[in-house]
Amino acid sequence: MTPVLDFELRTRVVFGPGVFQTLGEHARQLGFQRCLLVADEGVRQAGYVSQAVSLLHRAGVETFCFHDFGPNPDTRMVEAGREFAKPHQIDSIIGLGGGSSLDCAKGINFLLTNGGSMKGYWGWGKAQKPMLPMIGIPTTAGTGSEAQSYALISDAETHVKMACGDPKAAFRLALLDPVLACTAPAMVRATAGYDAISHAVETWVTRKRTPISLSFSMQAWQLLNESFERVMAQPQDVDHMGKMLLGSHLAGMAIEQSMLGAAHACANPLTAHYGIVHGTAIGLVLRHVVRWNEVEVGAEYRQLHPELVKRLSELLECAGLPRRLAEAGVDRKDFPQLAEAAGHQWTGRFNPRSFDAEAAKEIYEWAW
Ligand SMILES: [Fe+2]
Repeated sequence: MTPVLDFELRTRVVFGPGVFQTLGEHARQLGFQRCLLVADEGVRQAGYVSQAVSLLHRAGVETFCFHDFGPNPDTRMVEAGREFAKPHQIDSIIGLGGGSSLDCAKGINFLLTNGGSMKGYWGWGKAQKPMLPMIGIPTTAGTGSEAQSYALISDAETHVKMACGDPKAAFRLALLDPVLACTAPAMVRATAGYDAISHAVETWVTRKRTPISLSFSMQAWQLLNESFERVMAQPQDVDHMGKMLLGSHLAGMAIEQSMLGAAHACANPLTAHYGIVHGTAIGLVLRHVVRWNEVEVGAEYRQLHPELVKRLSELLECAGLPRRLAEAGVDRKDFPQLAEAAGHQWTGRFNPRSFDAEAAKEIYEWAW
């Protein structure tokens, strides 16, 4: 029997300006001694890696830094991380950065503790052995990966995005410090923020939604809708960045419960085929998916906003992201192939209106 609701908070959340400075104490409390720090290149350049290393050093935690991965972490990058970590006999992992750093940290944890390849963990609950304790520190208000026990890792050969989840892959602690997110470049703020908005909107209507996920989705939407324009115009506004970061985290908590929908199913093939950044791909399709779903969940959408499509369009305008597939370099001749791939996306199954390749083609046409 599948339960209607199965809810457990697996991640402790510590939020507030400056909480990054408490990293050392938290790591020590969790018993970290030899820690793998997984952080992307942008975060290293912003100086956060050296700050983290010195905070950990002062707390008596030895740190080994891994940076050798890109914006959409794939199986090869995660395997490189395992090879890097192996000889250091680490007992803990910290993911510091955007969603890619946090996903990569989770992926390395799977391989290091349970062996094999990422494909073996595609789906839910495939890790048999215990995993290492982890701290997640997002530096962008976006994916909410720090709230999820899924690692999104692309197959390096096929570019298919694999969602590999296990309750043991959840972060023990998420440190949410808006000061870190304030230094993200405008393009990152735009794509990450719009992605978070899509998480609130999609989780609000999925077939798997529960009373608990709905409360996360609504609160996430309110925080993100209120603050997105502000942080695009004034990135140094810590107060509003805090709302974005918390909103992204809550939207991530909603995903953990209710999954996503057709916007993610349509966006993933655009990323796989053309390398379009995830948030940009989402921006191209989200409002059309909402329009397409309206026959099924129009009343629910109106609870978020009386004119949700119009509001999403305004937010996209403010983000300065491309509005049409044609603008983003998508070739209309590829529609059948893209639609086929979209129809196979796992996340499409949770969309409130039955979604398949035909549906994806219609949405792509609207977005053209
Ligand atoms: Fe997303």
